[in-house]
Amino acid sequence: MTRRGIILAGGKGTRLAPLTLATTKCLLPIYDKPMIYYSISTLMLAGIENILIITTPEDSKAFQNLLGDGSNWGINLSFEIQPKPEGIAQALIIGETFVDGNPSCLILGDNLFYGDGLEEKLSSASQSENNNLFSYKVHDPERFGICEIDMNKKVISLEEKPLKPKSDLAVTGLYFYDQDASEIAKSIQPSDRGELEITDVNIEYMKLNKLFSETLDQDFMWIDAGTNKSFLDASNFVFTTEKEQGIKVACPEEIAFRKGLISKEKLEELSHKISKSDYGKYLINLLK
Ligand code: G1P
Repeated sequence: MTRRGIILAGGKGTRLAPLTLATTKCLLPIYDKPMIYYSISTLMLAGIENILIITTPEDSKAFQNLLGDGSNWGINLSFEIQPKPEGIAQALIIGETFVDGNPSCLILGDNLFYGDGLEEKLSSASQSENNNLFSYKVHDPERFGICEIDMNKKVISLEEKPLKPKSDLAVTGLYFYDQDASEIAKSIQPSDRGELEITDVNIEYMKLNKLFSETLDQDFMWIDAGTNKSFLDASNFVFTTEKEQGIKVACPEEIAFRKGLISKEKLEELSHKISKSDYGKYLINLLK
């Protein structure tokens, strides 16, 4: 059984209009690279090499033009369409054939994760048989799925955008599931806003005592980049981190090279295609 990844990059990005009138949110830049690079990098750091990208019908072609079949980065990318934005949990139904009875990891295309030790946390969640969420302390818990956990990291309460939050631990858009996730997604009903809520899938796992959450402390960065302000926050974070540390945040070519998924020759070929940009120059430097 090998875990498969699903990136939900659908939705109209209406909160970002007019930026999203002619293109889609996940292809917009977060500082120096398209937003989709960040979720792909997160899955690659978790050790996941088979990834399904779910987009709107209109945007599928643009994603494929940018990313191809993934072979440039030593991974396999597939594409599916979400005809209408009918909820995050629908991604598990659309991805059922792709997942093919394996455990899965679902990530939202607008969620950015960064921090020392992230790779270890992600790969241990990926290798675990538990269903695992990642939670993060926030100042505005009314905006998110909110959970409470016990001493064993078991989730004991879960609410979507509560008016009176029981904790300030937001459930981030990264979910590691066993092979039952698609079945559970098919069994839930749409919410009042007409969507299949991922929180309802998680509540089913919680009722079975099968849901755990790893808390990312404040040394980690998590941003749900859905608004103009959070887009700028994310870009500023990436800019500052890259400048101060002389590294790149979420560079799929680098991850692929370090993990041995692509050869030196391949990295060289990729870097020469974009050698005029700082990104390309960074890749060339990796070869030295
Ligand atoms: C969704 C989920 C919510 C989660 C958030 C993380 O919210 O419903 O539980 O905390 O993503 O980004 P939405 O972005 O649909 O408002």
